[in-house]
Amino acid sequence: MEVVENFFTGPIAREYKSLWPHLYEPGVVDPAVDFLAGLAAGGSALELGVGTGRLALPLSARGVDVHGIELSPDMVEQLRLQEGAEVVGITLGDFATVKVEGRGGSFSLAYLVRNTIMNLTTQEAQVECFRNVAWHLEKGGHFVIEVMVPELRRLPPGTTVRPFMLEPTHLGFEQYDVATQRSVSHHIVERDGGMEMWSPGFRYVWPAELDLMGRLAGMVRRERWSDWVRSPFTSDSRSHISVWEKAAETSL
Ligand SMILES: C[S@@+](CC[C@H](N)C(=O)[O-])C[C@H]1O[C@@H](n2cnc3c(N)ncnc32)[C@H](O)[C@@H]1O
Repeated sequence: MEVVENFFTGPIAREYKSLWPHLYEPGVVDPAVDFLAGLAAGGSALELGVGTGRLALPLSARGVDVHGIELSPDMVEQLRLQEGAEVVGITLGDFATVKVEGRGGSFSLAYLVRNTIMNLTTQEAQVECFRNVAWHLEKGGHFVIEVMVPELRRLPPGTTVRPFMLEPTHLGFEQYDVATQRSVSHHIVERDGGMEMWSPGFRYVWPAELDLMGRLAGMVRRERWSDWVRSPFTSDSRSHISVWEKAAETSL
């Protein structure tokens, strides 16, 4: 398997909230937390790529026992600076493979939001991630993914690049390679009076492909919506929130 690259270091970790302020708006956070708390159903929740705790902390404040897996110590440092962080357990490592010690089969919910499944840049790693989640979930437990629908339809014919952010202090361009099913998000961000470039790589993934990954890991898809308030998923939806259930008879 490829070595995972940690893109969320130094200033990206420190400035995460100011780079993506809209993600912290109550209108974004509250419905996600409601959705996740409902599926946790009184049990424990595991966030893959917990980051600075944008959702883990409010979910924990709702009384849910939350544990996070995270690759970047710098992101965890930001999480630890916040109120309520002391009750959120953290395991450092790659969420495709790392195990939370002693917690196999113990979570009622696992979740992976904000396109973070795409941070795994091979199909093999994405499949491994589903298997790793199945290992952590109790039978009947749920796995939630929030991820974009690949935007290939929005590419002008013959081009490979599409702008996704055009703010004066933050420009973003997505570059697609359909041969490898990979993309690179080029961010050009104002810092210290100059502009800096940050270009994390992704593997974009189709909804139906995720369903197959779920099956390979002994899970069945139960829900697919276009947002956290369960609006219908349609052919025009730009992202989806999907829920798989670990089958009662799986051997994983
Ligand atoms: C887009 S941020 C999302 C953070 C948080 N979930 C949120 O909603 O704000 C992605 C996070 O996933 C982490 N991450 C990316 N790939 C990872 C991997 N293979 N294993 C563990 N964490 C990973 C990054 O370090 C980063 O903190």
